[in-house]
Amino acid sequence: MDIANNPLMFALVLGAGKGTRMHSSRPKVLHTLLGSPMLGYVLRALKPIFADHIYIVCGHKAEMLREAFPSEKFITQDQQLGTGHAVMCAMDSLLAAHAEYVLVINGDAPLVTTAILKDFLKAASGADIAFATITLEDSGAYGRVARKNGLVQAIVEAKDFDPAIHGEASGEVNAGIYLLRLESVADLLPKLGNANKSGEYYLTDLVALGCSQSMDVRGIECGHESALLGVNSPLELAAMEETLRRQVVNNLLASGVIVHAPDLLRAAPTAIIEPGAEITAPCEIYGGSVIKSGATIESHCVIRDSSLAENVLVRSYCHLENASVGAGAQVGPYARLRPGAQLCEDAHVGNFVELKKTRLGQGSKANHLTYLGDTDVGAGVNIGAGTITCNYDGKNKYRTSIGDGAFIGSNTSLVAPVEIGRKALVGAGSVITRNVPEDELGIARERQKNLPRRKGGQ
Ligand code: UD1
Ligand code: CA
Repeated sequence: MDIANNPLMFALVLGAGKGTRMHSSRPKVLHTLLGSPMLGYVLRALKPIFADHIYIVCGHKAEMLREAFPSEKFITQDQQLGTGHAVMCAMDSLLAAHAEYVLVINGDAPLVTTAILKDFLKAASGADIAFATITLEDSGAYGRVARKNGLVQAIVEAKDFDPAIHGEASGEVNAGIYLLRLESVADLLPKLGNANKSGEYYLTDLVALGCSQSMDVRGIECGHESALLGVNSPLELAAMEETLRRQVVNNLLASGVIVHAPDLLRAAPTAIIEPGAEITAPCEIYGGSVIKSGATIESHCVIRDSSLAENVLVRSYCHLENASVGAGAQVGPYARLRPGAQLCEDAHVGNFVELKKTRLGQGSKANHLTYLGDTDVGAGVNIGAGTITCNYDGKNKYRTSIGDGAFIGSNTSLVAPVEIGRKALVGAGSVITRNVPEDELGIARERQKNLPRRKGGQ
């Protein structure tokens, strides 16, 4: 039976835990690696197999999880009484969905991959209870796998492990990925107890229970140790993030991306950086960013969910978020492109310029000390130093529009809503509150007076 892509198979991600060892008020699975939450990585590995057959158990600060993943399906575990209890909370939803099998996976193992899951499912096919194992030099806080004559007998949690009772640990531990046949475990789950050192209902106790009923229980050695480790502390998070970072950078270099100071590049695996792009680290490139061949990113830039077309130059110290930069355009140094900033081909944005929900047309320039918000700028426009769009009156936001070929003199305030026509000129130092028609000069400032200096005075 090809268990992957089986319509009766579901995935259940356990993410309700508080993550006490993270010392943080956030749910543990929202802690980030290379700019994205752990849970996102786990979902990314699951989606190709399970599509929308995925439930997430949430509990501690559940609303934060729901908000971060608005299109996912959640099941609430009001009290976090253990991983076994988390699965019990999901049983009704799984049965209502007519699930036959459920792949249960800890939400704190972000480096797991689709390929690892597929291999596991293949080896687990037909079992009543199967779980993935890895072998570690130091079993640490992981559940120890107990076998007799090669056959799995139990998983013994670290806190409850006693060599006098359980024998020497082999180093084989539970990776926190399980395949459960629902019909088989439905009667076992209510039998889980919490008489252990943590006072929790351990999912891992299913193994011994299943064995006691002569079920087909399999511990499947997976290899891929570093990809299956869990994150329980800031130290483990940092180590795992570094493993991932190194992997991503090595892949980029191997594919033909030019990276200077690669040890200092932090690029998310979800970002697409084409061969022939050139990056000088330190830099951070996160989310769904797309960097085309020939684009150059100088050091100290943070780029999130943004696209840079061919031959874009982003100079040092720029921040881009949800922005798109057209071919040949230049940004920075020290520029900030906020969500909805769109630079068309060959546009220039210079130092201390901020754009938000603003399109800067082809070849247009805003080179110094400027804020453009909710603005549509045509092609070939020059925005003088110190131009500010006053887009907010304290209650509402309004748009500014600037036609092709217009010239905005330095230190101008454009009080929105306002339109500057094509090829119009705005005099430096103006506060523009009314539209300036095409080809006209708008000037709104006090006329200069030159007066004789007072004799003998200061
Ligand atoms: C768990 C396993 C251990 C295994 C290890 C692998 C148990 C009892 N132990 O230990 O055998 O070696 O993972 O990484 O399962 N969670 C809930 N609800 C709860 C408690 C936890 O949803 O009531 C979630 C957590 O958010 C987390 C996952 O379950 O994502 C695992 O919980 P955690 O406390 O990290 O278990 P470990 O001690 O790491
Ligand atoms: Ca864990």
